[in-house]
Amino acid sequence: MNHSKTLILAAGEGTRMRSQKPKVLHQVCGENILDYVVGASRDSGILDIAVIVGFQAEMVKESLSPQLETYYQKDQLGTGHAVLQALPFFEKLQGNLIVLVGDAPLIRAETIEGLVLAHETGGYAATVLTAKFDEPTGYGRMIKNRSGELQKIVEEKDANPEEKQIKEINSGMYCFDAQALILALQELKTDNSQGEYYLTDVIEIMRKMGKTAGTYVTPDPEDIQAINSRVQLAEAEVVMRKRINRKLMDAGVTMIDPATTYVGNRVLVGQDTILYPGVILEGETVIGEDCLIGANSRLVHTKIGNNVTIQSSTILESSVDDYTSVGPYAYIRPGSEIGKHCKVGDFVEVKNSTMADGAKASHLTYIGDGDVGENVNLGCGTVFVNYDGKKKYRTIVEKNAFIGCNTNLIAPVTVKEGAYIAAGSTITEDVPEDSLAIARARQVNKVGYLKK
Ligand code: UD1
Ligand code: CA
Repeated sequence: MNHSKTLILAAGEGTRMRSQKPKVLHQVCGENILDYVVGASRDSGILDIAVIVGFQAEMVKESLSPQLETYYQKDQLGTGHAVLQALPFFEKLQGNLIVLVGDAPLIRAETIEGLVLAHETGGYAATVLTAKFDEPTGYGRMIKNRSGELQKIVEEKDANPEEKQIKEINSGMYCFDAQALILALQELKTDNSQGEYYLTDVIEIMRKMGKTAGTYVTPDPEDIQAINSRVQLAEAEVVMRKRINRKLMDAGVTMIDPATTYVGNRVLVGQDTILYPGVILEGETVIGEDCLIGANSRLVHTKIGNNVTIQSSTILESSVDDYTSVGPYAYIRPGSEIGKHCKVGDFVEVKNSTMADGAKASHLTYIGDGDVGENVNLGCGTVFVNYDGKKKYRTIVEKNAFIGCNTNLIAPVTVKEGAYIAAGSTITEDVPEDSLAIARARQVNKVGYLKK
């Protein structure tokens, strides 16, 4: 392959999104639309990438990795004008300039590779990525001569009734010979119905310069779907979800109902793990092998080991190690590390805490800012009282301690190894090793009191 670079057009406002933020920063399956386009270029082996920014340029720039070059288009005078703003990026390029659009996240590396291959085998100065649509309204149409050679592209707004019948449409993505493109760009005019510099006009200009242009019909029309509205955003989400879920299932993950299983693009799931309906996996979540993630569980930036069972629970920015069971209805909040063979049962909340291997909180417990040792048993209704209204304090429960039901541990406090707390205690002082602490009022029975 010749040396290639990719230029992504993302200066447009995207008015139809009716949004305060730029269109390309809306998300599909948890990732920015624009990042998918960048990713597709990288996956096809083209790492030299620049983005044309305009509308809310700073915000778009900040979202991008600093390795990417950006060029600023002050006024949106058309796609041809946009490409011209990046002239320094490809001025000296002896090779291909791939032009992609920042609002079409479904483009795949395979499709870019196919486009470049068609371009090089055809020996074209420009190759247009096209699709054949039964309903081509709104797109530029590919005008070919009788022998099928591409002559020009006509925009919907400039097309005559005959041209409007043409079903082969312009995706807005291309592979250009960079030097031929530079020559053609110099000739662009705005004598069209929109008064814009159309990038599409370079096809006819190149032909007049004695060069040839070709088309590459996308193998999958979904690849070129651009997002212009919230409805199209939701449609792209469905397509992307199918792709992500398919890849996971092909790699050995079971999904009971893929249509209602929501997995982010960067999530990893191990073999023989089963995802139930309504599971939502977001961010950099990693799940090991042989896990069961039950219905309506939501995991964000979370690492799960192997053979873990999670039922109808929420876990945020935390980790859960092998053979542990969580839920139903547990809530594990950021900064928590749960060990192996642990149990975090129903209505247990854990926040910024560690639970060492074998620790158990089977029901109705709050573990906030705590360190729970190996094989500790927290009885039903244990509360780590971590907050005095101003500051948060830590609670330490050392290994093999047993905390009776309905105990309050008033932080800062330490329960030493092997200690035993009687049910109903409110613990304000450290409990020594292997000791029994009882901190509750003694029961008094007033016999026959109510008969008096
Ligand atoms: C363009 C094509 C059309 C094609 C369609 C595919 C032209 C003249 N027409 O149409 O043939 O069928 O895409 O969707 O190119 N942009 C800029 N700066 C500008 C104008 C646009 O960066 O001055 C960016 C937009 O942010 C967008 C992309 O270029 O990502 C395409 O612009 P858009 O206005 O959506 O394309 P159309 O003019 O509708
Ligand atoms: Ca336009």
